Amino acid sequence: MLPSVAAIHPYEPGKPIEELERELGIADSVKLASNENPLGPSPKAIEAIKLALPELHRYPDGDSFTLRHKIAARHQVSPDRIFMGDGSCEILNLLVYLFLRPGLNAVIADHSFVIYQLATAASGGTAKFVPLTSDYVFDLDAMARACDQHTRLVFLGNPNNPTGTIYRRPAWERFLQQVPEKAVIVADEAYFEFVRDPEYPDSIAYHDGQRLIVTLRTFSKIFGLAGLRVGYAVAREDIVELLNKVRQPFNVTSLGQVAVIAGMDDGEHIRRTLEVNARGMEYLEGEFRRLGLPWLPSHANFILVDVRDGRAVYDALLRKGVIVRPMGGYGLPRHLRISVGTEPENRRLIEAIEQVL
Ligand SMILES: Cc1ncc(COP(=O)(O)O)c(C=O)c1O
Repeated sequence: MLPSVAAIHPYEPGKPIEELERELGIADSVKLASNENPLGPSPKAIEAIKLALPELHRYPDGDSFTLRHKIAARHQVSPDRIFMGDGSCEILNLLVYLFLRPGLNAVIADHSFVIYQLATAASGGTAKFVPLTSDYVFDLDAMARACDQHTRLVFLGNPNNPTGTIYRRPAWERFLQQVPEKAVIVADEAYFEFVRDPEYPDSIAYHDGQRLIVTLRTFSKIFGLAGLRVGYAVAREDIVELLNKVRQPFNVTSLGQVAVIAGMDDGEHIRRTLEVNARGMEYLEGEFRRLGLPWLPSHANFILVDVRDGRAVYDALLRKGVIVRPMGGYGLPRHLRISVGTEPENRRLIEAIEQVL
């Protein structure tokens, strides 16, 4: 076995509510740990799933034809440039499978989505870590400088999980000029729909048929379908072709396909989600200010807050039925990452934090 595989600490998902309640003998807990949509899925997605249930004995469309074409039309690109995945995590893994092996490396920012480094370790490739700037933003100039002739992947999260920070157009455009041609730039935009900043670069606008940009999006966040596992990549046709060679034949479930087809145009659901998120974020920031807890301004649906001892506060909040995410595994032992919930959930969190502190 590769030594890098033996050394992996598996991804620790947020605790399921049922497990926590069983362990602690409590009820009515709230989960603000996995950046899910607190409003749930679109009612249109639920309706489509119900209608599709009697067909569950059939394999799904292995080509995700209708869904892929719908997404292509939304982005005004050829359907041959869309790759559907079992969540965007699957696509991250497949990219590593395709492009990394011992002797090659991926450039990864410190304090970024942990799957980048787990997948890299699984391949036996080397992770070259680059610190964030002092305000917790990707240092794209330093990431470009870290690339060498053995670099095959550069992982960028915009917004980044867990910091919620973004890089802006000037830094991104400079980065594109500097990165070696051979390196695949993975622009992971799982939280794209939440961003309001006018200088935020939509990486799809920079696909020029030359540069190796792979844009990742997901239906797990604003679309509220994390349980169904559907994500996609927009990329050059040759990269999509490679991804299709190595995926399993039925990687996107039938329910996932119909739910996304029915739910992705539900503008009312998205509008409500954005409104709840913006109001919740404002409330949490105000409360953290009042409590003297430093936080990072976030462009996503979660917020990173410095509580001095993340693990201890996490444990104490758990006992009060509030599930958040300690950030020790991300090299941020003082911090918690808290997903923005509904108004009552956010209030419950703040009350619990006040008692715990
Ligand atoms: C930055 C980032 N990328 C990708 C993902 C994975 O999303 P999916 O549910 O599509 O696998 C997440 C999930 O938390 C994330 O935060």
